[in-house]
Amino acid sequence: MVAANWKMNTLPGGAGTLVEAYGAEMLCGHPELVVCPPFTHLATLGPSLGNAGCLGAQNCSEHLSGAYTSEISAAMLRDLGCRYVILGHSECRLRNPMESLRMPEKMAQAIANGLTPIYCCGEDLPIRESGAELEFIARQLADDLPNELKLNAQNLVVAYEPVWAIGTGKHASPEMAQQMHVFIRSRLMDVMGIEAERTRILYGGSVQGNNAAGFASQPDIDGVLVGGASLKPADFRSIFEAFARKGS
Ligand code: 13P
Repeated sequence: MVAANWKMNTLPGGAGTLVEAYGAEMLCGHPELVVCPPFTHLATLGPSLGNAGCLGAQNCSEHLSGAYTSEISAAMLRDLGCRYVILGHSECRLRNPMESLRMPEKMAQAIANGLTPIYCCGEDLPIRESGAELEFIARQLADDLPNELKLNAQNLVVAYEPVWAIGTGKHASPEMAQQMHVFIRSRLMDVMGIEAERTRILYGGSVQGNNAAGFASQPDIDGVLVGGASLKPADFRSIFEAFARKGS
């Protein structure tokens, strides 16, 4: 999977143009392309993606419906044609101290409404520098993904996004990411059993055209979640091609 997180960039009118600039080969279904634009672009972007490209949102509410001003429900996203939703992105966790506490409910809402969460986890720099990253990720997974969610390889995609690598140009080395992905998979194995072997674990954090092949070469890096470079079609195409080669 190669997923584009546009964050709060582009205007609705430019969204179709950006997808067109990605090129037709990206819409052929392998690797799976997921585009996560701002909410305001979802309704119009679905048709530009055709049948093969998938639409994803960048967050959803933990509630089904009701008096939650400004929130968007998982059912609304599904109704707009979304197949995926990013949950637990560090930019949301950092801005909203309640975000992490809401993760189990958000995951449950997304899954109950037919969306597959692209669930994000990742440690910040002080944790990495203190050597406590495995412990931290184990805690985050245990807190956010309780057994009741009944996760399987279809209803969960995990994105390992070390906070210190997001938008900084300082990416994890492919070996470092591989090591963490193996660890995450072993933890998922505890809650999902054998399904964890088929669960896609993406790497995110300063992925660019010139470093994507390194990530693609690692056996447990099943794709990438791309921020800044997904706004640059040529760069994004190189990333996509690196993962197309991995699967061929
Ligand atoms: P960058 O690729 O800009 O570092 O962002 C990564 C990210 O946050 C994807 O969700």
